[in-house]
Amino acid sequence: MDPSRISLRRFQLSDVDDFLKWASDDKVTRYLRWNTITSREEALSYLEKVAIPQPYRRSICLDDRSIGYFSIKPEAGDDKCRAHLGYAVSSEYWGQGIATAALKMAVSSVFKEFPGLVRLEAFVEVENQGSQKVLEKVGFLKEGLLRKYGFCKGEIRDMIVYSFLSTDIIK
Ligand SMILES: CC(C)(COP(=O)(O)OP(=O)(O)OC[C@H]1O[C@@H](n2cnc3c(N)ncnc32)[C@H](O)[C@@H]1OP(=O)(O)O)[C@@H](O)C(=O)NCCC(=O)NCCS
Repeated sequence: MDPSRISLRRFQLSDVDDFLKWASDDKVTRYLRWNTITSREEALSYLEKVAIPQPYRRSICLDDRSIGYFSIKPEAGDDKCRAHLGYAVSSEYWGQGIATAALKMAVSSVFKEFPGLVRLEAFVEVENQGSQKVLEKVGFLKEGLLRKYGFCKGEIRDMIVYSFLSTDIIK
């Protein structure tokens, strides 16, 4: 995959059909907090009410077409030193280095965009090997296992916590 084809940009309503293609896939949403999108109307409403207004939610694009997303959610108040990240790529494009390339791009700009941010963290389910590999390839540190930590798709699950500090180096 030529990395120059990959870009991150804000979502727009005209992404609706491309967004629906990957957001309606249970394989993609399996480890995400949000549920599979099931119709064009729902996709439009999600873009309008959730994806577009959020300050740092970006569409991962291939040749400027949406094939995934990346989001950063900083904590509030004194905890704004810390932000949580989420991401997904269309299953059609798995295993081509796209998530790794997109995360590297996002991590290199995010500390400039959020003054005071020092720590990015990600919580990954134990069986989500692909996501763990992506984080390790970007340079995140595996900090440990959090037992029964996160609620996802009806179950409380064990999660592995990864972090990347503003002083860390992208691999
Ligand atoms: C996790 C996810 C984003 C990876 O996207 P991707 O574009 O396929 O990732 P990359 O191609 O950059 O893969 C990076 C490495 O992980 C490996 N990998 C990817 N998926 C894998 C899997 N399911 N099992 C094992 N290794 C996997 C790749 O082979 C690659 O390793 P390599 O360079 O040594 O070959 C994608 O599978 C996805 O969207 N999953 C559903 C959503 C999700 O889990 N989000 C993260 C929540 S924490």
